[in-house]
Amino acid sequence: MTVQLAKRLKSIKPSATLSLNAKAKALAAKGADVVSFATGEPDFDTPKHIKDAAIAALNAGFTKYTATGGIPELKAAICKKLQRENKLEFTPEQVLVSDGAKHSLYNLFQALLSPGDEVVIFAPYWVSYPDMVLLADGKPVLVETNEADGYAPDPGELRKALSPRTRAVVINSPCNPTGAVLSRAALSGVAEVLKGHDCLIVTDDIYERLLYVSTPFENLANVEPSLAPRTVVVNGFSKAFSMTGWRLGYAAGPKELISAMQMIQDQSTSNASSFSQKGALAALEGPTTALDEMVAEFKVRRDLIVAGLNKIPGIRCRNPEGAFYVFPNIEALIGRSYKGKPIGGSVQLSEILLEDFLVAAVPGEPFGAEGHLRFSFATSRANIEKGLERIGKLVAALS
Ligand SMILES: Cc1ncc(COP(=O)(O)O)c(C=O)c1O
Repeated sequence: MTVQLAKRLKSIKPSATLSLNAKAKALAAKGADVVSFATGEPDFDTPKHIKDAAIAALNAGFTKYTATGGIPELKAAICKKLQRENKLEFTPEQVLVSDGAKHSLYNLFQALLSPGDEVVIFAPYWVSYPDMVLLADGKPVLVETNEADGYAPDPGELRKALSPRTRAVVINSPCNPTGAVLSRAALSGVAEVLKGHDCLIVTDDIYERLLYVSTPFENLANVEPSLAPRTVVVNGFSKAFSMTGWRLGYAAGPKELISAMQMIQDQSTSNASSFSQKGALAALEGPTTALDEMVAEFKVRRDLIVAGLNKIPGIRCRNPEGAFYVFPNIEALIGRSYKGKPIGGSVQLSEILLEDFLVAAVPGEPFGAEGHLRFSFATSRANIEKGLERIGKLVAALS
């Protein structure tokens, strides 16, 4: 029998970051000395007090199903965190705990979109947004932003992209892949346009704690409080607390939407892992020393990689204000030849880099920004130096 797969699969593709990562890991498993800049996860261990809380939960037999939407004490702690750190008011019924921020976003688009409904996404974007929208039968509407403007959206371009079918606009600051943080002025420009258009605002704040600038993080709803009632804040524990494998994230937003998302979760995955939730509670209530140390180290690494990439002829790298990615422009290398063959684009360049120079970096194309490569600097300084040397060798080998 030929298995007939669902038609909706035709519109989506595998996650570029996850597949590149898998390729790099497969090479490393064969003994190759791969320097990987591909992973979107901190290379730090989960802080001990968080692990201890989960271990204590396991030892106490906290190993059963919980309420689908999350344990009450975690939901209350999330509301307190949003109030304390983000100056945003939510009640526990407005919060849904899921298996990671990715799962929260998936639930959200499934709950929100009918066939043909549109979601505005700024490019460069995190690879999963358009595919998640497509999986919910929605239509991603892409709005380009530019390196020269610090990737701040152009309000005029945003206005042009909105239509009566627009159900949501996604904002991701600090951004994966660019590391750009939207300034208050940039957020105000977006808010001004959205004030006149009745749609949801989805803010993916997963990198909010990873900042290398002194200005504090701001959500669009802080800049324009009148938009707060139609803002959904998505966040998680993966990046700030080095908890990628724990799979824990949440969404906070309008009650009707959160209830609909919970119904989807009821009928699909049920609750997030019980003991992960206890760990997350400790993360929100415990000390932030480990986080502060991690951010200080990331800042040193950012400076190292930005300076090193900018020394390589043909590569131009912007200094990111947040997250742990750099997104250098490699347009000057496209069209040059390697071993007699012209390089067609970022995908091909990343293949040569991995196969012949054992450096894993994700091509810009799946992030909606050809002419770039994404490097995660969530790897040691020694790896960054080794990787930079190899990238330099690749560029020197081009004709
Ligand atoms: C912008 C962005 N949002 C969401 C996620 C998902 O995070 P989680 O591990 O909580 O599912 C990622 C992970 O790479 C991300 O980069």
